[in-house]
Amino acid sequence: MNTTPDDFDPIPSTRRRVSAGVASLKQAEEESDALAVPVALGTEPRDELGTDAAGLASAGFTGERGQTLVQTRSQGPVRVAVGTGAPDQLDATLARDLAAEFARAVPWHKRLAIEVPSRDVGISLADFAQAVTEGVLLARWRYFVGKGADEAPLESLLVVASDADAEEVARGVERGRIVAEAYCLGRDLANCPATTLSAVRMAEVALEIGPPAGLEVEVFDKDQLIDLGCGGLLGVNRGSVEPPRMIRLRYQPDEPTGRIALVGKGVMYDSGGISLKPSDESHAQMKNDMTGAAAVLASMTALRALGCTAAVTGYLMCTDNMPSGSAMKLGDVLRMRNGTTVEVLNTDAEGRLVMADALAMATEEPVDAIVDIATLTGACLRTFGVEIAGVMGNSPAVVEQLRRAGDVVDEPVWELPLLRSYRSQLDSSIADLTNMGGINAGSITAALFLEEFVDGRPWAHVDIAGTAQLPAPRTWRNRGATGFGTKLLIEFALGFARPEDAGSGEARS
Ligand code: BES
Ligand code: MN
Ligand code: ZN
Repeated sequence: MNTTPDDFDPIPSTRRRVSAGVASLKQAEEESDALAVPVALGTEPRDELGTDAAGLASAGFTGERGQTLVQTRSQGPVRVAVGTGAPDQLDATLARDLAAEFARAVPWHKRLAIEVPSRDVGISLADFAQAVTEGVLLARWRYFVGKGADEAPLESLLVVASDADAEEVARGVERGRIVAEAYCLGRDLANCPATTLSAVRMAEVALEIGPPAGLEVEVFDKDQLIDLGCGGLLGVNRGSVEPPRMIRLRYQPDEPTGRIALVGKGVMYDSGGISLKPSDESHAQMKNDMTGAAAVLASMTALRALGCTAAVTGYLMCTDNMPSGSAMKLGDVLRMRNGTTVEVLNTDAEGRLVMADALAMATEEPVDAIVDIATLTGACLRTFGVEIAGVMGNSPAVVEQLRRAGDVVDEPVWELPLLRSYRSQLDSSIADLTNMGGINAGSITAALFLEEFVDGRPWAHVDIAGTAQLPAPRTWRNRGATGFGTKLLIEFALGFARPEDAGSGEARS
């Protein structure tokens, strides 16, 4: 598939499966290079650690959350004491974090094993097993295309369980593996250099990955987008030598319990266009301006395997945003899929333009909720930093379901007000809308722009401009493009309840 020396495989981690399963302690000791032994604060460790609390304390290890201590040994796997903090206060977030700390403490060990703290840890064994599997696999993921990687690739993970617990633990491990693999796909895509991962290549990836995961994949090229009247995506694409692609993915279970549309911003590279960005650090990150599309594709690859009962249609809106002689000009007017006209006053506000066409298309079919996800505004990064994504919508029920899903998977999202009074900032004197709000409340005016295209359907918008990038690794989170949103969307789809059924219902007017 590679054609030039600087053309890379955009999805290397899908070629390299990590095996994950359940094992007895004896088996784990034989088949791993490093074994994590959880130790709660102020308790004696288990025998297999090979030392006692006093011995650990002499090395400064007390069992505080996140502490790790590698015990050297001449035989068998190294033992790694992992502090869990106060006994029985474990939740999935902590378990995931601890497993990640363990995986990072032994970067050259390829076969890892991890013990379960005790039966009554505060969460089910299946949830614990899922969380630690996610933690280890995500902490040890790398996108690296050079020669000198700074750690060994992970080969296997075993979660230790008694015969009685094996089945439940195995179920959790399997779910964790499915989620982590999807997330790694999302990260691969978000980290792949933009020249390699063009819109055309993104469609090739969807066609390769989608059908084996039970997804129907339709790819729309430039001529088809012209026929569909997708003026937003086409307008943004005008300055690029790379053609655009809209990719539609469908997951269709028998007798669906609900219908969700997911829309992902797929700006493969955002130079700003004619409104060129300065060559600063944030411009250098703009290969990740397709993280929303990556998260939609990645999350959808996990739906069948996880038994999702809602039908999900995904729209990936893919193009570069480049300056050139053919690029959009300021003052140009675009006609979007739903007929709305938009005066372009800043070509760097391109995300909302590509998303608008897909939001309009999503309303053309029966749908219970529309969720879009996009690296949409620098203002969101300013507001929340890199830890929390913004969410806004016309449906309290959909916003709440996203917030709850974010809590469960530790991809936090926080609501901003979608106040109508800001809407006048988008008024144009020659078209229905402009694409540019004022200098303040940029995340909100961007969301109000998107709302114009959902035709009153229950909808929420997730702005991941802050969380799509991390300057330094932390627990299971990676440095660089994060693929943020993959777990969030999986959890949202799995737990989806139609807004009418969910109680607080009704789109706001
Ligand atoms: N992709 C950017 C948003 C972004 C900025 C993401 C920084 C991550 C870090 C988006 O297309 C953009 O350029 N937005 C503009 C909108 C403005 C021109 C109305 C912004 O936020 O500055
Ligand atoms: Mn932009
Ligand atoms: Zn952008």
